[in-house]
Amino acid sequence: MSEGEKIRVMIVDDIVDTRDQLEKLLFFEKDIDVIAKAGNGREAIAMAKQYHPDVVLMDINMPDMDGIAATEAILTQDPSIQVIIMSVQGETDYLRRAMLAGAREFLTKPISADDLYKSIRHVHRLAATRPRAVAATSDSGGASGGAGGSVSEGQIIAVFSPKGGVGTSSIAANLAVALRQMTNKKVALLDANVIFGDLSVILNLRSDKTIIDIATRIDDMDRELLNDVMATHTSQVKVLLAPPDPQRGELVTSDHIRAILDLMRREFDYVVVDTPASFQDRSLAVLDMANRIVTLMTLEMHCIRNIKLFLEVADLLEYPHEKVMLVLNKASNRTGIRAEDVEKNIQRKVSLQIGDAGQDMTFSINQGVPLVIGKPTHQIVRDVVALAKELVTVTKAAETPGQQAAPDQKSGGLFSRLIPKR
Ligand SMILES: Nc1ncnc2c1ncn2[C@@H]1O[C@H](COP(=O)(O)OP(=O)(O)OP(=O)(O)O)[C@@H](O)[C@H]1O
Ligand SMILES: [Mg+2]
Repeated sequence: MSEGEKIRVMIVDDIVDTRDQLEKLLFFEKDIDVIAKAGNGREAIAMAKQYHPDVVLMDINMPDMDGIAATEAILTQDPSIQVIIMSVQGETDYLRRAMLAGAREFLTKPISADDLYKSIRHVHRLAATRPRAVAATSDSGGASGGAGGSVSEGQIIAVFSPKGGVGTSSIAANLAVALRQMTNKKVALLDANVIFGDLSVILNLRSDKTIIDIATRIDDMDRELLNDVMATHTSQVKVLLAPPDPQRGELVTSDHIRAILDLMRREFDYVVVDTPASFQDRSLAVLDMANRIVTLMTLEMHCIRNIKLFLEVADLLEYPHEKVMLVLNKASNRTGIRAEDVEKNIQRKVSLQIGDAGQDMTFSINQGVPLVIGKPTHQIVRDVVALAKELVTVTKAAETPGQQAAPDQKSGGLFSRLIPKR
């Protein structure tokens, strides 16, 4: 798909009028060509094989074979095709199913011309810049790697906040499950909060094996030991739990964390880390090694102040700008502080907002069932899915894995790391 070539679009809808309307909307777009139209899922599969479209506009509700089944079949046939699902309002559960099937975008009918053009160009651009995460991806043999099929390192995603209590553990758990549901790839979740780890409660995982079983045998650590110690959540996310008490947590060092993450990124496609709210060595080890740091902020003055400080620290540590992704959690317009004003003040854009789930989040923690599973149509789940999608989409940071710390600067705390730089 070289520059200058037209985007080849196939329209799939059982209603003739809809097909024709969509074609008319696209007719005057110079960079878009409608190359095929299909009236049902089966026809779509055959036509995709014959015409190799770049983008498929797929209706969800069709007799015989629906849009989700057709999407799955088309992507198994040719994973490079980008599918945009079209649905009528209210079919929110379809969003999740469509994503699981490998769809890239979700448009709600009636579709505005603007949304249609934007979506087609957006998915087409993405196709050129990233490997595809397909539901049919193999589930074995380590990180699945990029489109070339070579085994490569997975992404380490640190969920972090310089302020405690803002939702780091809840978002990390939901994000890991969403990534698994969306990509069907190998997803690990590490509870790096070794003193007061919460993930066993949030995910209702009971296991007597924890990170301690690796830390105490670190020289013998290999994929078998890692696999044996990690607990398996019902979502198929593999979780390395924190020790059962703070005393044993103290035995886990930053070097242990580094070695464990190094093995994890070779074994998994995505490694989500619940990172402690501190600048101590264990947290810094995670932040250094992360490809992306999902930095959670709430609209509270003390949190905003800490975020500002953290962004300065991230600059001093020479983390690339795109590595730190600012995400607003518990976003609401009832706090007396507006996100836009904060952005101006800290001179940094908020990448994404996760709404305030109120008691629903607490309820889900008490149940031990993440909202992504317990309430898949909840607004917060949409926000978390959007976050997961963003992380899957941006691969640039994957090419610059976080190895910023020189070997002799890796430990010794933030102070000794920064002093030479000032
Ligand atoms: N988006 C949200 N909407 C509503 N409540 C939320 C949201 N995210 C987290 N919470 C709530 O915030 C509280 C703290 O969540 P959590 O334990 O995940 O935070 P944390 O940052 O990991 O805390 P700690 O610093 O203690 O590890 C919980 O009561 C949780 O239900
Ligand atoms: Mg926590």
